[in-house]
Amino acid sequence: MPTFPLRLFALLALVLATAAQAQDAYPTRPITLIVPYAAGGPSDSIARLLGESMSASLGQQVVIENVAGAGGTTGAARAAKSEPNGYTLLIHHVALAAGATLYPKLTYDTLNAFEGIGLINNGPFVLTGKKGLAAGNIKEALEYIRTNKEKATMGNAGVGSGSHLCNMLIQSTLGVKVAEVAYRGTGPAMNDLVGGQIDMLCDQSTNAMSQILGGTIKAFAVTSTTRMDQLKDLPTMQEAGLAGFEVTQWHALYAPKGTPKPVIDKLNAALEKAFTDQKVLARFADFGTVLFPANARGPAATNAKLAGELEKWRKTIKAAGFEPK
Ligand code: MLT
Repeated sequence: MPTFPLRLFALLALVLATAAQAQDAYPTRPITLIVPYAAGGPSDSIARLLGESMSASLGQQVVIENVAGAGGTTGAARAAKSEPNGYTLLIHHVALAAGATLYPKLTYDTLNAFEGIGLINNGPFVLTGKKGLAAGNIKEALEYIRTNKEKATMGNAGVGSGSHLCNMLIQSTLGVKVAEVAYRGTGPAMNDLVGGQIDMLCDQSTNAMSQILGGTIKAFAVTSTTRMDQLKDLPTMQEAGLAGFEVTQWHALYAPKGTPKPVIDKLNAALEKAFTDQKVLARFADFGTVLFPANARGPAATNAKLAGELEKWRKTIKAAGFEPK
């Protein structure tokens, strides 16, 4: 046998063995978890909670990096272009799916840019108002939007963010258009609602709950089809007369496409371990958000959920008459 192919074969075997060893040893250095919104908001809270728990089981620090902007697409683009080696991850939510329709010039192909690691949580939004708003319940809040469309302001975390989608559905159902104020996340938007700089914010219960219970803002209705245990007195949007209204927020963990399966499996195991951490479970209960069922939240379920939501939001955005930019 000629010596050259033999050498080539040996070299290939060495490269493969080194790659397998690297995957076995993974992780050997800190992992960056990109949060595509500002610090202090709901996605940031979920990421920090899970990051702390996963750091302990992976034996390496999970470092949160807030890469905010363009409704969560700036952070997603950064993750999509990162090395697929398990050292850069992304937490994202419904906006990853909606952004594909709302931003036709994205630098990544949403369906094919990521490997799902696991589905995390699902929870409602709450339509909230500043304390001084001249509305005491959901009927009055909707009437306020209808009759004050020239001066009413609603906060959001950028076009395509969960808060923006919620606002979009409210306005298209009511047939009105009000001014929206864009922030880099609902963390800073909530600060301005508490400060009275904006009138309303449709935010995840994760972020809104403590302010509602603390009495610093008003709460009008939840966006799920059933009421929340923690806010039993609040009607759903459907009870308030908005037929078919439903929008909930689901987070998932992703890696760039091409990340080796053994690495995805290790990350999924660490995520699953975090779901048994009493601190994580207690905080999720405080937030009013729930885990996906244990048998339907792995990598394949995550990829399938993203594919389904891409289609769902493509149709919903079209039906709401929102023009992509
Ligand atoms: C945030 O973390 O600020 C929110 O998830 C953004 C949003 O979707 O409204």
